[in-house]
Amino acid sequence: MSKYILGIESSCDDTSAAIWKDGEILSNCVANQEIHARYGGVVPEVASRAHQQNILPVVQQAIEQAGITKKELNAIAFTKGPGLIGSLIVGVSFAKSLALALDIPLIGVNHMQAHIMAHFAEKPYPEFPFLCLTVSGGHTQIVKVNSPFKYELLGETLDDAAGEAFDKSGKLLGLDYPAGPLIDKLAKEGEAKFEFSKPRIQGLNFSFSGLKTGILYFLQKEMKKDSNFIEDNKADICASIQQTIVQILLGKLVRAARETGIKRVAIAGGVSANSELRASLEEKAQKYNWNLFIPKFEYCTDNAAMIAVAGAFAFEEGIFEDQKTEPIARLHV
Ligand code: KG4
Ligand code: ZN
Repeated sequence: MSKYILGIESSCDDTSAAIWKDGEILSNCVANQEIHARYGGVVPEVASRAHQQNILPVVQQAIEQAGITKKELNAIAFTKGPGLIGSLIVGVSFAKSLALALDIPLIGVNHMQAHIMAHFAEKPYPEFPFLCLTVSGGHTQIVKVNSPFKYELLGETLDDAAGEAFDKSGKLLGLDYPAGPLIDKLAKEGEAKFEFSKPRIQGLNFSFSGLKTGILYFLQKEMKKDSNFIEDNKADICASIQQTIVQILLGKLVRAARETGIKRVAIAGGVSANSELRASLEEKAQKYNWNLFIPKFEYCTDNAAMIAVAGAFAFEEGIFEDQKTEPIARLHV
């Protein structure tokens, strides 16, 4: 008999619901909260309220698009953490109520593991073990994935995440939040002609806060000489920022592949939508003979398909949560 799993994601500012059926995603609906752009970042209280408004219509839409009824659902997978606690509470409470009403099991999913499990939304699936560079607005990690439930954290950021580096640098240029996609777009028309120093961090860890400060000082210096500097050089500045971030990320990923001897390499998280990161990864894959796994764009940024897929692995193993389950803002990989 077919199995249907509803995934619910509400860890940050996107409310999403998806239906998984026997290894296939039938629907993946996302309600974006554009309201945060005007504040230059996600406002937690505003995010929680918007989740509250969006969650029922988004879940209904996912069920409808899948062409099923809620009575056919076999389990509900929800994001347990990490994330904003007020945002998580909305998704967890909704999942608990619906599971209780339908008398079906609940599955708590780690958002970071789900970003990695997004690679199992569509074939070809990576074989275990593989390396995954997870780059989002809140996290930057290199993980050795041994099985759907066994992860080894090889390196992570000591301060800002890669997405934050994009967003905060963009803010310095006067770009709206989230600036990552805008920098990506503007960089296409520019040339990486400005040099920013890269951090010297031991091992496979990352640091991005120094880069942000370096960019700030650079802009202040140039703006003193020419108050139109940012406006006149925006595309070139964006290309330079993007190239620096991509080089920092790939430098460590190449090292991780060399040190572990693993040639199956995947990327996940919102920043993996970045076109230069994708193109540079393809180059590295050619050079080092990697088997590369890059998810479809809609499975890179926050989405519920990845929650449903991660939930499906737990469903197979019978790993469920009861009605006492609670969100955990700082859940680790
Ligand atoms: O995974 P995600 O959707 O949410 C979190 O869990 O954080 O990642 C969001 C992050 C934001 O920082 C956003 O600026 C960045 O991903 N991002 C990008 C691109 N698309 C999204 N960064 C660079 N280039 C992009 N094309
Ligand atoms: Zn995410």
